[in-house]
Amino acid sequence: MKLSYFSIIIGLVVQSALAVPKQVKPRRTSSILINPDAQPDLPSPQTARLSPVSPANAGLNLDDIQGDILIGMKKKKELFFFFGIKDAATFKSKLASDIKPLVTNTNQLLSISTQPITALNIAFSHAGLTALGVTDDLGESLFEHGQFADAEALGDLTSNWDPEFAGTNVDGVFLLASDTEQNVEDELANIQSILGDSIIEIKRISGAARPGDQEGHEHFGYMDGISQPAIQGFTQNVLPGQALIAPGEFLLGAAGDATTTRPSWAAGGSFLAFRKMQQKVPEFNKYVVDHALAVPELNQQENTDLFGARLIGRWKSGAPIDLSPLRDDPVLADDNTRNNDFTFDHPDVPGFDFATNQTNCPFSAHIRKTRPRVDLGSENTGHHIIRAGIPYGPEVTDAEHASNTSNIDRGLAFVAYQSSITNGFHFMQIRWVNSANFIFGKPTLPGVDPIIGRVEGTAMDTPRDISGTNPLDPTQIFSLDIEFVINRGGEYFFSPPISALDGRLAA
Ligand code: HEM
Ligand SMILES: *[C@@H]1O[C@H](CO)[C@@H](O)[C@H](O)[C@H]1NC(C)=O
Ligand SMILES: *[C@@H]1O[C@H](CO)[C@@H](O)[C@H](O)[C@H]1NC(C)=O
Repeated sequence: MKLSYFSIIIGLVVQSALAVPKQVKPRRTSSILINPDAQPDLPSPQTARLSPVSPANAGLNLDDIQGDILIGMKKKKELFFFFGIKDAATFKSKLASDIKPLVTNTNQLLSISTQPITALNIAFSHAGLTALGVTDDLGESLFEHGQFADAEALGDLTSNWDPEFAGTNVDGVFLLASDTEQNVEDELANIQSILGDSIIEIKRISGAARPGDQEGHEHFGYMDGISQPAIQGFTQNVLPGQALIAPGEFLLGAAGDATTTRPSWAAGGSFLAFRKMQQKVPEFNKYVVDHALAVPELNQQENTDLFGARLIGRWKSGAPIDLSPLRDDPVLADDNTRNNDFTFDHPDVPGFDFATNQTNCPFSAHIRKTRPRVDLGSENTGHHIIRAGIPYGPEVTDAEHASNTSNIDRGLAFVAYQSSITNGFHFMQIRWVNSANFIFGKPTLPGVDPIIGRVEGTAMDTPRDISGTNPLDPTQIFSLDIEFVINRGGEYFFSPPISALDGRLAA
């Protein structure tokens, strides 16, 4: 026995010594990414380049496109490190020589064997590009002015903004993703030692997938990252109900980019809208308990869960209420070929009129506000984002739960990628989420999005009237006298193609 164990161990040692030449960096055995059943799977690196969706290849260079853009909300840990540039000349030279080799591309993230220990991405605000002397017109005025200038239009109270985001102080952000915080910290220390005094830390936000069976769920408890657009030239298997969108809606200069005057060096880059969105979880839970519905065939807990699900449009598991209107269905939730396969219309139900009937899903539900499927006719609306955020902050404590009061900062480090902020995040927030009239043309106003909708200029306790939430009486108005999400600020960034890091940005 002993001898054979011994020889097996020797054999393994010899084998691994042979298989791993000294110069090669240690490779991963576990992924940087989570992969809940409810979320779409990522393509493999090979198929990503030869996607059957776009046999001629949409021209996407996945080795040059930064890794965070197309993969969605899948990171285990992610640190956002916001910095200012103090010494542009030193920064540019280090960026080209020492930082660029650390920046992770899309293909690298698509298989565990090519993932680095810590994935690194970098993005610049307009102030940051200006500091580098790069004043080329990228074709996005919201980016030029920065998010603080957009705050009031977005409905934010700037008094709620963290001071570091107020103004145009942030020049750039490093996004560091890994499976452990230690890895992330190590890589940050590495970057800081490379860049030295050429940058100054402005702020950091530490994100993590929630623990245990909450992995992939945001802090209110709902599975996130389910409905992401499929991207021509990238997505391998377009899932039923997934919107199939031209890559140019997300990547500058790619097929379908409506703006045709981008500088050539910016092709393959994307605008990153970052928002620190604080979530009042115990307060949300209390509101849901206090407003439990009264559907006769459901018990108290089911009526409570139904109220929450009708604010979002999905159950906590991720199952869509449009397909499972009264009770959660975890099997449906975990089947990504079915959990996004709905339009809010039910042509098979005699007499069902999607324009008036919100028995299954309220017009005001978060997912209907942000992707009004049949409500706008065809999918082709030009207003899509790739959501790539991650929860930040600890789990709710017993004390917070018992007092129905948040004492600790937690929420969503929201990230949206798009080639036009004007048509992407900004449009969605202003024209759909914050518009009480949307979905348009209803006799009872749907109201703002109950989760993230704001009535511009109003105090946080100004009631927000929403309808459709009670399936027994969709005209019933709920006056939300509390906001569950508080926008703490953010910035608009440009995530350049990797080739620009020792190209235009270093010149
Ligand atoms: C704390 C803030 C937020 C929370 C807790 C939240 C939560 C959720 C949840 C639970 C889903 C359903 C799962 C999924 O399909 O991925 C969802 C979907 C979505 N959210 Fe949010 N969200 C937040 C902020 C935002 C913001 C600011 C926007 C854009 C303005 C947004 C846009 C979307 C979109 C586009 C979808 C997919 C809709 C669909 O295609 O069905 N979300 N969100
Ligand atoms: C809405 O559709 C449901 C079936 O999904 C039906 O039971 C209900 O009567 C309809 N409501 C209205 C107001 O037409
Ligand atoms: C918390 O909210 C629940 C639901 O409304 C209520 O039953 C409980 O008494 C509240 N706790 C405190 C300390 O207010």
